[in-house]
Amino acid sequence: MRKTDTGQTDIHPSEITPAEVYFSRRALMAGALGLAAAQAGGLRPASATPPASGLLPFTFDRRDSVAEAPNTFEDISTYNNYYEFGTDKSDPAKYAGGLRTRPWNVTIGGAAEITGTVPLEDILKPHPLQERIYRFRCVEAWSMVVPWVGFPLGDLLRRFKPTANAKYVEFKTLYDPAQMPGQKVPVLSWPYVEGLRMDEAMHPLTLLVVGLYGKVLPNQNGAPLRLIVPWKYGFKSIKAIVGIRFTETQPATTWAGAAPNEYGFYANVNPAVDHPRWSQATERRLGGGLFAPRIPTLPFNGYGPQVAALYRGMDLRKYF
Ligand code: MTE
Repeated sequence: MRKTDTGQTDIHPSEITPAEVYFSRRALMAGALGLAAAQAGGLRPASATPPASGLLPFTFDRRDSVAEAPNTFEDISTYNNYYEFGTDKSDPAKYAGGLRTRPWNVTIGGAAEITGTVPLEDILKPHPLQERIYRFRCVEAWSMVVPWVGFPLGDLLRRFKPTANAKYVEFKTLYDPAQMPGQKVPVLSWPYVEGLRMDEAMHPLTLLVVGLYGKVLPNQNGAPLRLIVPWKYGFKSIKAIVGIRFTETQPATTWAGAAPNEYGFYANVNPAVDHPRWSQATERRLGGGLFAPRIPTLPFNGYGPQVAALYRGMDLRKYF
């Protein structure tokens, strides 16, 4: 790993840890940091501000991880959607490297007792990092399995003491066309905005992510801070977050605003509700090759046992 002339870390392909090596290192780290401590009385590693680059400390959360083989680091970091850096899947890996991810501030506002602009270090410091291997399903009917490193969003939100008027949470990406050249083109309305209902945001599966494969998140995957909501289509998982706002009304999200008949606010993975232009019944797992058989898409991306109760009584064709 080296610094580019813009001060960013630049991972050369030869420096990428192969999955087998990574997983044996991870087993050692999980053993050293988490499992041994857990056996010794349930202690967790002391939290510390994660570094701006390189390896992250974490414990492996087996309970919330799927047992499927993760995609390679290369698959996960070279086939991306991040329109701030272009609309081609290969654009973010080419053009996001120059984004300055330090210093970074997050503004917390709206219906909460505590609000204000907080440096990233203070956002992260109290939260021990966990690794969770999640399925990730894009609305475009491809999917992957990713070892994310992060912590539950709810743990952060609670620190700001949301009031009874906080019914939703709105998230905003950085707006800086000089650094994010895709924002000079009106393919979407900028900045990118996403939202969750409060109970979705507080659900323990919802993660704020700072890393993958045990390392600081590559810029193309949303550094320094992104959301992951594993039972929803990938577009809900907003990258490069600078704003979090508690709202009383449903946030106007970017994709729902761009094409309201195609992208709903909820965007729960649902094989029974097709996108108007393609089926959502199956998906192509990245890395399997073009001729690999498509696999069935699961309701709520397979997380139904944990999350279906959030939507009890709702017509999920209407609230898609
Ligand atoms: N966040 C921002 N700010 N801009 C984007 O264009 N694309 C979304 C989501 N978050 C996007 C974004 C979409 S459509 C997907 S599928 C995922 O990011 C892709 O995440 P990945 O590149 O880490 O796989």
